[in-house]
Amino acid sequence: MSAPVIYMDSAASTPLDPEVLDAMLPWLTNTASAGNPSSIHSVGRAARAAVDTARELVADLLGADFSEVTFTSGGTEADNLAIFGACAVESRNRRSIAASAIEHHAVLNAIHLLQERGWSVATAHPDKTGHIPPSAWESVVNSETALVTCMHGNNELGTIQDVAAAAAAAKAVEATFHVDAVQSLPWLEVNVRLLQCDTCAISGHKIYGPKGVGALYIKQGCTVAPQLVGGSQEREKRAGTENVAAIVGFGAAARLLKTRRLDDARRVSILRARLIESMTNTISGLQLHGEDPLLPNIVNFAVQGVEGPTLLMNLDREGICASSGAACSSGSIEPSHVLRALGFTNTEAAAGVRLSLGRGTTVEEIDRTATAITRIVERVRQR
Ligand SMILES: Cc1ncc(COP(=O)(O)O)c(C=O)c1O
Repeated sequence: MSAPVIYMDSAASTPLDPEVLDAMLPWLTNTASAGNPSSIHSVGRAARAAVDTARELVADLLGADFSEVTFTSGGTEADNLAIFGACAVESRNRRSIAASAIEHHAVLNAIHLLQERGWSVATAHPDKTGHIPPSAWESVVNSETALVTCMHGNNELGTIQDVAAAAAAAKAVEATFHVDAVQSLPWLEVNVRLLQCDTCAISGHKIYGPKGVGALYIKQGCTVAPQLVGGSQEREKRAGTENVAAIVGFGAAARLLKTRRLDDARRVSILRARLIESMTNTISGLQLHGEDPLLPNIVNFAVQGVEGPTLLMNLDREGICASSGAACSSGSIEPSHVLRALGFTNTEAAAGVRLSLGRGTTVEEIDRTATAITRIVERVRQR
């Protein structure tokens, strides 16, 4: 019998928590599943109440008000809504966006589209440790800046960004300030008042909720133009019949996260330290990417003389799921834009491998992973 799969890719997605599934099931079965929250009859009203309960739970997790949470189809849509929505209502004739070079593509590609429409983009570059220094924000934000966007936790390296520095630069010129908290939410307190943001994107499937659901926090008084028009759902910020079951699941995942996040983060950071220690002791030419402060679950590394895709393929053969920041497009490996931004060459940036631990990761899985990597590296080097 083959050994069970070891899932070391929680930054890509997490499994549905059984409690979340239990909360969702009634909304996927029987008459309740027919409920459209816009319908005025009893089945519709029940669906509306379920969506509102989930909204309360998500708002509570973020330290936001109920009316400040807009449900979306995920983190990507939340980022798009924040960026396109803020730029669409810019009334001061400002035409510049400031963003870090290491944002997720959900942010970067939205900005690129705006660039094609005549907006200019000022990029804040990270230092070698994977952090955007406060001075970088000061130098790219000015009186032309309409929007500043900064991620909280980086999805490839796990580096925790100095959001306060970006917020201060944005506030100084009265620019809208967006935070992508998709990766930090599972591990860190994400309190929108403390982050001092106008908008904040989060996603369900990174916190053991379902895929295809997320939310955008929109601060009271901050206007964001809807990017989906139609009915008046989500207070006219996002048209379309709500995915009730997914939203209920997201709410359940938010409630669960609040009770266990601190313990999960403590436990996982001990496991990550064990993994790093073991790899450091047994693998020569190991290079770790990104320095503290880091999310507790991500290890990004390269091994001298071993290509990232080779390592990943061999790990997969041994039942270990990991990932790389490099994207595969039209048959070729695109080096990670994050590692490129840190100053690595294309070849070095294509060598990065990301292991991301999750709530369910065990000591045995850590040890098996470290042993497997060591064995694969030795084998590849002998060829
Ligand atoms: C930092 C960050 N932002 C946005 C997203 C997009 O979220 P979703 O997969 O829910 O669209 C991701 C997904 O990996 C992410 O890591």
